[in-house]
Amino acid sequence: MIGIFDSGIGGVTVFKKIIEKIPNGHFVYYSDSINNPYGDKSRDELINIVDNIVNKLINLGVKVIVIACNTASYVCKDYLRNKYKNTIFIAIEPAYKMVYDNNFNGKTLVMATKGTIENEKFLALYHKYDNHKTILLPCISLADLIEQNGNVMDYLNKNLKEYKDIDNVVLGCTHYPLIKNEISKVLGNVEFYDGSDGVSRELVKQLNDNKIKYNYDKLEISFIDSSNNLDKEKRFYEILNK
Ligand code: DGL
Repeated sequence: MIGIFDSGIGGVTVFKKIIEKIPNGHFVYYSDSINNPYGDKSRDELINIVDNIVNKLINLGVKVIVIACNTASYVCKDYLRNKYKNTIFIAIEPAYKMVYDNNFNGKTLVMATKGTIENEKFLALYHKYDNHKTILLPCISLADLIEQNGNVMDYLNKNLKEYKDIDNVVLGCTHYPLIKNEISKVLGNVEFYDGSDGVSRELVKQLNDNKIKYNYDKLEISFIDSSNNLDKEKRFYEILNK
């Protein structure tokens, strides 16, 4: 069984890509909505939260865990790999290199949580592929707003209005692909980049390299939400279209 978690249902944008590649897998998705947002948490706080989730998933028999959250990936992946040597962790990061590969000359807006934008691993990625036409935008509380199904248009109108002539938008939080249409309404015709394809490819590679069975007779999904919110489950399956 493959485990996937995020600070709520945002990671479903990653899970969707995974199912495209592993249509008959057995999965457990852990939506940690009670602790959303992760983006403003301290390192120690977040490691503690994530450690608990990983323990729960391992107790359910999970051998491979996808950290479907940019913030938790950056902050926790080294800690987790060090502590849980028998578990494989697949981490995500903002798809900034994709801009370098595909449209280096384009004006670029990187949207992510404060935790991601300020993380030294992200800053190293940014300096490595910097096209000198990039704006880094910490989107404080946007993931939370998406999680609560709140008024995203108001937020975007207020926070994106000064960014004109943007060509590329890096969605550096797994919640943000859920509001692509709304972002386009404010920024116009932009190219979106996110890390879900890279993560799902890496997952399949790791499963093959480690000879772990992942194709069964049919798709099986268990959904757990830490706040036991039934609406989350409903929304999760709606987005997933399953
Ligand atoms: N979806 C997560 C990410 O990719 C976390 C957002 C949050 O909880 O702040 O960063």
